[in-house]
Amino acid sequence: MKYYITTPIFYPNSSPHIGTAYTTVAADALARYHRLLGDEVYFLTGTDENAQKIVRTAEAHNTDPKIYVDGVVERFKELWEALDISNDDFIRTTEDRHQKVVQQIFTKLYEQGDIYKSEYSGWYCTPCETFWMENKLLEGKCPNADCGRDVELLKEESYFFRLSKYQDALLNFIKEHPEFIQPSSRRNEMLRFIEGGLEDLCVSRTTFQWGIKVPFDPKHVVYVWLDALINYISALGYPDGENYKRYWPADVHIMGKDIVRFHAVIWPIILLALDIPLPKVIYGHGWYLSKEGGKISKSRGNVQDSFELIQRYGSDAIRYFLLREMQVGSDGTYSEDNVVERLNSDLANDFGNFISRSLAMVVKYRGGVVPHPGQDGVLERELKELSHEVKNAVEKSLEALDLARALEEIWRFVARCNKYVDETAPWSLAKHENQRECLDTVLYTFVECIRVMAVLTAPFMPGLPSRICRLLGVDEGFIRWEEADQWGISEPGTLVQKGEPLFPRIDISQYMTAGETKIVDQDQNIGQDINQTQAQKETTEPTPAPEFEPIKEEISMDEFAKLDLRVAKILSAEKVAKTDKLMKLEVEVAGVVRTVVSGIAKHYAPEDLVNQYVVLVANLKPAKLRGITSQGMILAASQGEVLEVLMVNKDLPGGARVK
Ligand code: MSP
Repeated sequence: MKYYITTPIFYPNSSPHIGTAYTTVAADALARYHRLLGDEVYFLTGTDENAQKIVRTAEAHNTDPKIYVDGVVERFKELWEALDISNDDFIRTTEDRHQKVVQQIFTKLYEQGDIYKSEYSGWYCTPCETFWMENKLLEGKCPNADCGRDVELLKEESYFFRLSKYQDALLNFIKEHPEFIQPSSRRNEMLRFIEGGLEDLCVSRTTFQWGIKVPFDPKHVVYVWLDALINYISALGYPDGENYKRYWPADVHIMGKDIVRFHAVIWPIILLALDIPLPKVIYGHGWYLSKEGGKISKSRGNVQDSFELIQRYGSDAIRYFLLREMQVGSDGTYSEDNVVERLNSDLANDFGNFISRSLAMVVKYRGGVVPHPGQDGVLERELKELSHEVKNAVEKSLEALDLARALEEIWRFVARCNKYVDETAPWSLAKHENQRECLDTVLYTFVECIRVMAVLTAPFMPGLPSRICRLLGVDEGFIRWEEADQWGISEPGTLVQKGEPLFPRIDISQYMTAGETKIVDQDQNIGQDINQTQAQKETTEPTPAPEFEPIKEEISMDEFAKLDLRVAKILSAEKVAKTDKLMKLEVEVAGVVRTVVSGIAKHYAPEDLVNQYVVLVANLKPAKLRGITSQGMILAASQGEVLEVLMVNKDLPGGARVK
C-alpha cells in the first residue's frame, strides 16, 4: 500500500515554534506508523515563500525577501531534524520545480475559462493572506478569530478563479465522502460555509512583484494560496513524474483548523477543474494555546525557543507531550510546566521506571541473561490479551488520526506492566529456590513487555527503539509492528543491561520559577546576513573535552603477567559505617571467600551488587581500610563523577582467570 501524507507548507516569515511543530510531529508519527506497517510512505513538508507578508518582514529587516527566507528555512530544517522528522521531501515554493507547475496550471485554468480577468475591489489581510469583502469585516478589522488585525483596501486589476462554477460538484463530493473532511465538526462547518454560496476568488496581485509571475501577463503575481496549495502535486512532479503517478491522491493533508477552509474549498476546486482525483482526507486539528489562552504564535509574542526545549527535555519527550495533550476536535494547552509534568509522570515514572526496574531484576537475579520462561499463569495470559487489545485499539485510533487516544491506549498497557511487577513481587520469588521457574517466567515476561512497549511507542518517540534495543541486547530489526501482540519473540539467553534511565526525572525549578515561561525572539538575527548567523554558530563555545589522566609508562608482558585477575562472585555487600565511599564486600573466588573493601558506595546500593560477578585483583597485598583487611581490589572504570564496576555476565565461575 502507498501512503502519502503532507503538512501545510509554513510561512518562513518567522522561525517555527512549538505550535507549528505539532502538525509536523503528528504527520511524522503517522508516516512512521505506516512505514512500520510496511506501507510505501511519502511524507512531504516545506515552506510557503511567495507571500506578501514575507516582503513586509524582509523590508522590516532591511533585507531582500529571498535572503530573509533562506535564513528562516534553515531554522525549519534544523528544527525538523532536532525533532526527528522523517520527511521524504521538503518543498520550497521559490524552487523552479514548483514555479513551473504553478504557471502551467494557471495557464491551463485560464485557457479553459476557469480563470478570467476583472478588477478586485475589497479588503486584504496580509497576516492571514486573505481577501475580505466589506460586509465580512468585524468592526473594520480582519474577522479571523485569531487575527483581528488591520486590513488594507485594494483596488486593482486581477485574475479571478470561478469557484462558483464548482460549488455544487464540491458539495456533492463532500456529502458522498463523509471521511473527506475530518473531524466531523470541521466538515459541518465547511458544509455550512459552502452552502452559504462561494464567490469567485481573486488569484493575482499587481501591487508587489515578489511571487510567481502569471506567464502570459507578467505584471501579475499568482495569489499565494493558489500557488501554495499546488505544492502537494508539484513536489511529486505533476503531471508526469513517477512520484505523482505513484502517490497521488494524498491519503492525508493534516493542518491546523485555521486553514481547513482553503484546503476544503480552493484546493478541491483546483483539482476538480483540472480533473485530478481529490485527496482522501483533510484533517484539521486544534491549536496549541498558551496558559493565558491565546494561540501560540509569533505575533502574540508567546513563543519559547524550541531548540532550547528540545535540548532540555529531549525530542522524544517533547513529541510525546505534543501528541498526548491535543485531543481530537479541541485545542491543547502548552506550557513548560505541563511538559515537565507529563515527562515526570508518564515517561519517567510509568514508562522508564518499568523498564529500568524490570531490567535491574533480570540483571540481579539472572546476571542479565534472559531466562527460559516456564508455564504462563493467569497474569501472563492477561498481559498477552491486553497487548492484543491495545494493539488493535492503537491501530484503530491511528486510522482515525487520533494520536492522543493511541497514546492513552499504550499507557493502559504500561500501567498494567507496572501492576504486574507489584503482583508478581519477583524479590519474594527470588528468596525461594523452588520458585525458580516462576521467577524465570516473570523475568522473561518483563523483557517481552519492554519489547511490546518499544514497538507500540516507536512511531511517536523514534529515539526510543535504538535505546531500548541496546538495553535488550538486540538490534533494531527487533521492532516489528506485527509482533506487538505476539509473545515469545525475545530469545532466552540474550544478555540485557540495566543502563541509564530512559527519562530522568526533571526538577523544573532548575530552569524557571513556577509558572514563568521564558519568551524569546528567535528571529532577531535572521535577515540581511545569513553568514552572520553562521559565524555566531561557529563561535559558540564547544563542549569541553573530558580531561583524561595521562597514560602511564610502558610495562613488559612479564610485568603484566604478574597480575592475577580473577572473576569473583559477590556474596554480600554492606556500607562501611561512618564513610560514604566504602563498601565491604564478601566475594567468592576459586572456592574461598574473601573480604574486599571498595570505594564504590556512592555509586551502588548493596542490593545491586549481590550475586554479581566482578573482576578481582587477586594477588594484591592485603591492606587495612577503616580497620578492615581488604584482600584484593575489584576493578571499576571511572571518569569524572561516573563510575562503573566491571561486571562479567557470561556463565563464568568465581575463580576464572581474566587475562
Ligand atoms: N502557508 C500557509 C499554509 C499553506 S498550505 C498549502 C500557512 N502557514 S503558517 O505558517 O501560518 O502555518 C499554519 C499551520 O501551522 C497551521 O495550520 C498549523 O498546522 C500550524 N500551527 C501554527 N501555530 C499553531 C499552534 N499554535 N497550534 C497548532 N498548530 C499551529 O498557514
